This record gives sequence, C-alpha cells and structure tokens, in this order.
Amino acid sequence: MICKVFFVVSFVLFGQGLSLPRPSYIKPCKVNSPDFDDCALEHGRAALPYIVKGDRKYSIPKLNPLKLPAVNVDAGQNLNIKLTDVSAEGLEKIKLDRVKIDTKARKVFLDMHMSKVELIGQYDINGKILILPIQGKGPCNITATDAKFQYSFNYILEKINGDEYMRLTENDNLEFEVGRAYFKLENLFNGDKNLGDTMNTFLNENWEEVIKEIGGAISQTIRTVARTISSGYFKKVPYRELLIFE
Ligand SMILES: *[C@@H]1O[C@H](CO)[C@@H](O)[C@H](O)[C@H]1NC(C)=O
Repeated sequence: MICKVFFVVSFVLFGQGLSLPRPSYIKPCKVNSPDFDDCALEHGRAALPYIVKGDRKYSIPKLNPLKLPAVNVDAGQNLNIKLTDVSAEGLEKIKLDRVKIDTKARKVFLDMHMSKVELIGQYDINGKILILPIQGKGPCNITATDAKFQYSFNYILEKINGDEYMRLTENDNLEFEVGRAYFKLENLFNGDKNLGDTMNTFLNENWEEVIKEIGGAISQTIRTVARTISSGYFKKVPYRELLIFE
C-alpha cells in the first residue's frame, strides 16, 4: 500500500517536470536579426491577450482579477503593513512598451504601462506614516492610475534531461511611477470614524509621499505577476523553442 502511494506521488512530481511545446500564441524571434527587439515586442504584444486569460498547463494564473493570499509590503522602518486576501484588478489591461533581450548578458528588460490597477483586500497597518501615527485593520482599496513599470531580470540556463531551460535569478527588479494614487483604509483606529476619515483625507492629499511608503504593495504585485508568468513558461518550454539562434 505504501509502495503504491509513493508511486503515485512520484509520478505526479515527475509529470510536473515534463517539458511542453511552446504555446501557439507565443511566437519565437531570431536573436541575430537586426530587428530582434522589435520582433520580441510585437510578438509579446500579440501574446498578451492570451497570457492574461491564464494557462494552467504552464502554471499561468488568470489575471482578471489576480487573487493573492498575501502581498508583502516593504514599508519604511517605522511602518508595518500587511495585505491579505488581495484581488488585483486591471492587470489584464497591461500594455507592453518595450522588450529588450540581451542573450549575452542573459538579461531581459520589459517596459509596461497600465491605465489603472486596483488592490482590493484586507490590510493590517501599524506605525507611523510620514509624521502621523496610524493603526488599524479592515478592508482596503489601494489604486494607482497611469502606472509605468520597468521590470528587468537575469536568467541562467539550466540543463534538464538534455534540454536547456531559462531560470530567473533572484535579483529581478521593478521600478515604477504612477500618475496618481488613491487610498481607502476602512475601520482605521478601531473604527473611530473621525480619525479614520481625517487619515484617509491626509493619505490622499499626500499621495506622492504616501506611495513611497506603501507603493511596495503595487510593485510587489506587479513583480509577482511578471515573475510568475516568465517562470511559468521558462520552466516548461525549452530555451531553443523560445528564441531562434541561427
Ligand atoms: C477603488 O478606488 C478607486 C479610486 O478611488 C475607485 O475608482 C474604485 O471604484 C474603487 N474600487 C472598489 C472595488 O471599490
């Protein structure tokens, strides 16, 4: 009996490691062609509408909306903030502006923009924001409009069963700027309505400063999305199917 269970488990694990062909909506580009980056941008743009719908075979989650159990916010020293049960909305409208792939340095750059991204979920905050003490937990809405993102990552090539696969290294990086940010934290200060309303007004009037402290919620979400999507395909599809070297 134990033997049988072990067999089933190992079969499942082995099955996940099997390589898959490139999905039909992702078209490769010729690395040595002068218009390689333009080709990557064009093919990336054409693939996006398919990617955002999710593709379970490649472990790509659905992006409309994306559900995240938790988002880590690396806030300032004096502030702790946790977001849980997050629904990230608007990601399916992400637009690609530039793709640059440096196969010698093994580095990829992606510029993207979004007209609107909404994080709807539960927050737990404690500490100081700018100069004011803030404390509370409850439902929240953190929204950014006209957001621009620059995502870059390095990759290594890993040989598995005779084929090479790209693997993202840990030092991926996301820079972003937003046109405007909106915050709504319900139930601040144990539900004290006056204090809560005053704080929300303060946050929204000072959004440019506030986004520096809690904007990590947005950048971590986008980084997770970009990383999950790239790794999903890289893990299953061999390098030689994604890029053409000739
Ligand atoms: C979140 O806040 C934005 C900006 O105020 C607003 O447009 C949007 O409707 C809100 N979303 C929800 C689900 O309340």
